[in-house]
Amino acid sequence: MRDLEFLEEQKVSPALLREVERFREAYEVPEDVKNRIVKPPIPFYGREILEMAIAALLQGENVLLSGSKATGKNILAENLAFIFRRPSYNISFNVNTDSSSLIGTDTFVENEVRLRKGPVYQCAAKGGFGIFDEINMAKNDAVSVLHATLDYRRIIDVPGYDKIELHPAARFIGTMNYGYAGTKELNEALVSRFLVIDMPPLTEETLMLILKKNFPKAKEEGLRHFAGLFLDLQLKAQNSEISTKPMDLRGMIGALKTIQIGISPRKAVTMGITNKSFDMFEKEIIGDIVMTRIPEEWTGDEVF
Ligand SMILES: Nc1ncnc2c1ncn2[C@@H]1O[C@H](COP(=O)(O)OP(=O)(O)OP(=O)(O)O)[C@@H](O)[C@H]1O
Ligand SMILES: [Mg+2]
Repeated sequence: MRDLEFLEEQKVSPALLREVERFREAYEVPEDVKNRIVKPPIPFYGREILEMAIAALLQGENVLLSGSKATGKNILAENLAFIFRRPSYNISFNVNTDSSSLIGTDTFVENEVRLRKGPVYQCAAKGGFGIFDEINMAKNDAVSVLHATLDYRRIIDVPGYDKIELHPAARFIGTMNYGYAGTKELNEALVSRFLVIDMPPLTEETLMLILKKNFPKAKEEGLRHFAGLFLDLQLKAQNSEISTKPMDLRGMIGALKTIQIGISPRKAVTMGITNKSFDMFEKEIIGDIVMTRIPEEWTGDEVF
């Protein structure tokens, strides 16, 4: 399968890939939701995580991805939907999420009450991959409506409406940042309905792959400095010397983009990394780390 080359390159188990192929052949995608099969902007890098997630989904399990910001949870979820060739439904959770925003709301059509189908309903009916983004932002009682959907019953049963069974290809993937402001403790009953994958810290090898993929024209040596900076910050954050605020791959990619159109590397990193912390003391520590990796006098030529 040409489009799964990125998995072969990462040496993802061929046996799993054969099963994925069988899955794809088994489940046709309805014509009207074909446009929901979206190729992600970049591949997800990380063989072990890919294998764990693919195996779980093949066996009919739902997957919960937990990890701090910019660890690739959404990019992984999108890649999984694409790997399995399923239409994807992104469902963002927040404090106001309730059963009607998930399953559907009553509407009046020709003097009749009808259910306007919510994203979980549509996903279930079409055999989609539902991405429950920031699942721990919702109130626990709001998501209890999903219990029967997520366990062996595989149904949606809302009082007053028909009970529907999930399409056999439907799966749900949750993402969460544990302990972030605004998040809630997920209730055990909900967590029990997922296999949980903890997103690992990035390695130099993975980082370089991600940076090169995002910036194919960049100089390898230049990117190495950026990867090094990220690893330094990651280590300091792991040792609790700094917070995880500046450990921001998204910010680093943003910084590299601005270098590409002429901003000096140091200024770019200040915007993408250093300024992510608003604490004067911490900013100084980050500034010191940045100094050792990205010289002040550098111009864009060092990187592109
Ligand atoms: N393993 C990875 N493979 C590919 N890209 C990655 C990986 N880890 C992080 N990234 C990159 O990091 C950026 C952020 O990824 P993503 O939005 O998926 O993170 P997230 O974990 O959902 O973050 P948040 O918790 O802030 O929502 C993207 O540009 C993505 O390409
Ligand atoms: Mg995310």
